[in-house]
This record gives sequence, C-alpha cells and structure tokens, in this order.
Amino acid sequence: MDSIKQAVELARSGESPAQQEFIGGSKPLAGGHKEPVSVREVRLDADHLEANRIVAFATGSESGRYYDMLRTQVLQEMDKKNWQFLAVTSPTAGCGKTVTACNLAMSIARLPERSALIVDLDLRKPMVANYLGLPRSGGVLSVLDGQVPISSAVIKAGVGPNHLFVLPGSAPTSGSSEWMASQTMTALLQATKREFRSHTVIFDLPPMLLGDDVISILPRMDAVLLVTGVGNSSVADIKECQKHLDRVPVVRVVVNKVSEAVDTYYGYY
Ligand SMILES: Nc1ncnc2c1ncn2[C@@H]1O[C@H](COP(=O)(O)OP(=O)(O)OP(=O)(O)O)[C@@H](O)[C@H]1O
Ligand SMILES: [Mg+2]
Repeated sequence: MDSIKQAVELARSGESPAQQEFIGGSKPLAGGHKEPVSVREVRLDADHLEANRIVAFATGSESGRYYDMLRTQVLQEMDKKNWQFLAVTSPTAGCGKTVTACNLAMSIARLPERSALIVDLDLRKPMVANYLGLPRSGGVLSVLDGQVPISSAVIKAGVGPNHLFVLPGSAPTSGSSEWMASQTMTALLQATKREFRSHTVIFDLPPMLLGDDVISILPRMDAVLLVTGVGNSSVADIKECQKHLDRVPVVRVVVNKVSEAVDTYYGYY
C-alpha cells in the first residue's frame, strides 16, 4: 500500500490526538562543515523546546526516536537523488508541520558530517522562531525585500554540542501569495543553495489547501514531506493534495497525532 493510501486509511479511522511525553537528555557531536560567514549565534533553551514538543535535540527520548527514524528514511531517499530542498506541508492547518520540521532539522543536525537549515516559509503564520525560542527580527521578509543578505538573517542555533541553522519568519504578512511567486523568492532560494550547499534545507510551509502559497513554491523543491493529522485532515483533503503532488516526489507521509488505538507502530510511513 503506498504512503498516501495509508494516510487515507488512518484519516478514515478519525482517531483523536495522542498526548505525548517528552524527555530531554544529552547528545553526540556534529561533524565540521563549511559555514556561511557572519551568522548570529544563539543558544536554545531545552525547557522551551520541550514545552513546544521539540525533542529531537537529544538522544534517548521515545518521541525523539520517531524523528530519528524519520530522518534516516528521508535522508536515504534524498541522498539517492542528491536532493537538498525538502518541503514540509500538510493538507490543512494544525497537522504538526512546524513541530515535525523543527524536530527533523534537529535530528539531522545531530548527525556527524550532516548539517541542517530550517527556513520558515509560512509567511502567514510563521512559528519556527516561537517554537525554537528565537527572535523574529530580521527574518525571511527582510531578505525578500532586500534589506539584508541571507547570511545576515540566518541564526546559528546551538543546542548542547550541536547546532542547526535557522532562517526564521518575520511578522505575518497578508501578501504571502505574491512573495511566494516572486523573483525575490527565486533569488532567496538560489542564495540558499549557494551559501548552504552542504546543508539539508527544510522548508516549513503553510497548509496546501489554504491558498496557493505551496503550489507556487513546490516546483522549486526537490521533495515533499506531507504531514497529515489524524482528526485534522479528512480523506477528501488528502486526495485533494494528491492532485498537486504529482510532479514533486513525496518522500514520506507522516501521520501525526495518532492515538495508540491505531496500529501504526511508528506513527509515520
Ligand atoms: N504528535 C503530536 N501530538 C499532539 N500534539 C501535537 C503533535 N504534533 C504537534 N502537536 C500540536 O499541534 C499543534 C499544531 O502543531 P504545529 O504548529 O506543528 O502544526 P502546523 O501544521 O505547523 O500548524 P499550522 O498549519 O498552523 O502552521 C501544536 O499545539 C503542537 O504542539
Ligand atoms: Mg506551522
């Protein structure tokens, strides 16, 4: 059964969200990488991360293991094709995209000889900075409108001995659709490719079905991770997304917020 079909089955089951417990811990060391010059450095607070369900900064927790397994599966697919850009989206709002994107980026950043950049391209509802506890000043919109180069807007976020790079969102904008389709967005993506060549870049996107933002940007992505939320995404929603996903490979479908009553074991496919 392919992954979208499995997601449809789980959406049909209509299970309510599961509550999870998150535990902190310690970490292995990341490998050396060529880093863009002049990035701001900030230390992340483990308690703030855990309070926002960001757990993959350390080994040892049950929830963190889900993200490590997801990370390995996603990277195996991406490495086969030398892909760098991964879009994280969902059919509708609140499925867990931002939580998944942040945890995946952290899990990748913990690997030796790997590094990750997370870019908040949910211009209507940017939440990456909130979840990570980072300032939003000078975020993605200041790069798009030419105020600062990407290297000045990116933050090097340290957690334990590891770090990930973050291009946070700015204040929410009502002009997201125009920005997503703009030449300046193309320039931002080109600069990202150039300056973060050795990084896996994870883009936290808005929901697919709440506007054309995702449809605009998808052709510029190498692959998609589709996050569906049991109780958030209907079968019809998932099928509607399928129509827009025929040209960009879907590396995995995460079925998030699955209760223990549903036999998914790891909660994603
Ligand atoms: N596995 C999970 N179990 C329970 N709650 C979760 C889970 N994953 C995320 N959540 C919670 O669901 C809410 C939405 O999560 P998140 O912000 O990641 O979703 P989103 O898809 O990015 O939402 P939006 O469409 O608004 O951007 C948050 O309160 C988050 O803590
Ligand atoms: Mg979000």
